[in-house]
Amino acid sequence: MSFSRRKVLAGLAGVGALGVAGGGFRFWLGRPAQTLEHDYQLIAAPVDVELLPGHITPAWGYGGQVPGLELRGRQGDWLRVRFTNQLPDETTIHWHGIRLPLEMDGVPFVSQLPVRPGESFDYRFQLPDAGSFWYHPHSASGEQLGRGLVGPIIVEEREPTGFEHDHVLSLKSWHVDASGAFTPFSVPREAARGGTPGVLSTVNGVHAPTLELPAGQIVRLRLLNLDNTVTYRLNLAGAEARIYALDGNPIEPRPFGKGYWLGPGMRIELGLRVPAAGTELALRNGPLRLATLRAVAATGVVASSWPARLPANPIAEPDLAAAETLRFNFEWVGAVSADLSPDAMPSFWQINGQAWDMADKSCAERPIARLKLGKSYIFELRNLSQYQHPIHLHGMTFKVLDSNRQRIIPYFTDTYLLGKNETARVAVVADNPGIWMFHCHVVDHMETGLMGAIEVA
Ligand code: C2O
Ligand code: CU
Ligand code: CU
Repeated sequence: MSFSRRKVLAGLAGVGALGVAGGGFRFWLGRPAQTLEHDYQLIAAPVDVELLPGHITPAWGYGGQVPGLELRGRQGDWLRVRFTNQLPDETTIHWHGIRLPLEMDGVPFVSQLPVRPGESFDYRFQLPDAGSFWYHPHSASGEQLGRGLVGPIIVEEREPTGFEHDHVLSLKSWHVDASGAFTPFSVPREAARGGTPGVLSTVNGVHAPTLELPAGQIVRLRLLNLDNTVTYRLNLAGAEARIYALDGNPIEPRPFGKGYWLGPGMRIELGLRVPAAGTELALRNGPLRLATLRAVAATGVVASSWPARLPANPIAEPDLAAAETLRFNFEWVGAVSADLSPDAMPSFWQINGQAWDMADKSCAERPIARLKLGKSYIFELRNLSQYQHPIHLHGMTFKVLDSNRQRIIPYFTDTYLLGKNETARVAVVADNPGIWMFHCHVVDHMETGLMGAIEVA
């Protein structure tokens, strides 16, 4: 399967025609009262930001900000994004966790050609699931995500959920030095280990902010890990909080307890009962304070009961009795090969003996698994390394079944944080035809081999 520009343009013609038939282009920024199509004009461009007081960081942002403009729609509606690339580099947008057709998935040379500087691309797709999602490039990811090209997409439920207050907290640690200049997004010695971490933590682009919440109310907190590398060991000591959703999918609400490990790409939604006015809670990563949540006096009725479980998304239930089991070994291959050319990425990681090579545009032609459309599969994910890997699948949502390291209450997700030496089983219905990326979301693991393609046909 070779990818030609003509094929891409032919594919796009269909999308354009639909758009025009819908009454021409209408772009706006913000929330619709009652529309079924949410249109955005989204520009990726350099933007100077002040992450450290008095210092400029030459970031790249979507919509002139980091993290990028928040996109919102309602479940079942269409999202249309006219994307324009004003970066000095080619790029694409991938819509993490959203189940959509391959042509909209944003993987260069697999679902589309890269969008070159000065070019535009129209993304248009339906939002099948409610929840917290995000978007980011899928080319030169270390640098592009590292410079700030990450943003939230919130898909609201069709019916009221009982939450009156909704806050999005996008977490990102920046690779910057004391003067705000970027440090390397990936260094080989770190890429071969846990990944290259940033040092300056931010919530919604601000280091250790104080967020005000209405005292006595139950608020919905959407925590999104948009980081290249860091797995946050989230905790909220002293808080009365419950988990409502993991990675865009509702679970039976349960206490947040001591905390949760949120790997790169993952999301968690909490219900938080905000304490009395004047009280402060610390949102921490392990011992490090990410943000202060301050309860401020609010008008309105004090919420008394917890909202019910959020409505389930329409994800096909895998048929476990009929499912075929496929094994995926995630391995460290270590030693940098001798033939390493100066601009080739070294390969430290592989899946089932195959390392993805970012420089080889034909990798997707050699899928690591071929699934039959409509059939159920169990993936046995084996981590043969000493490092954690948030394993992510495009195009389909899978169900986590069990693990040899922790008790699992089965749930649907698009990313599973596979602990060191852990083996976990997940199940999926192969109901979306295409070539789908399957990779670790620690960006420098992915860029040094830990990615594969899975074909569904
Ligand atoms: Cu966030 Cu390949 O994905
Ligand atoms: Cu994805
Ligand atoms: Cu990894």
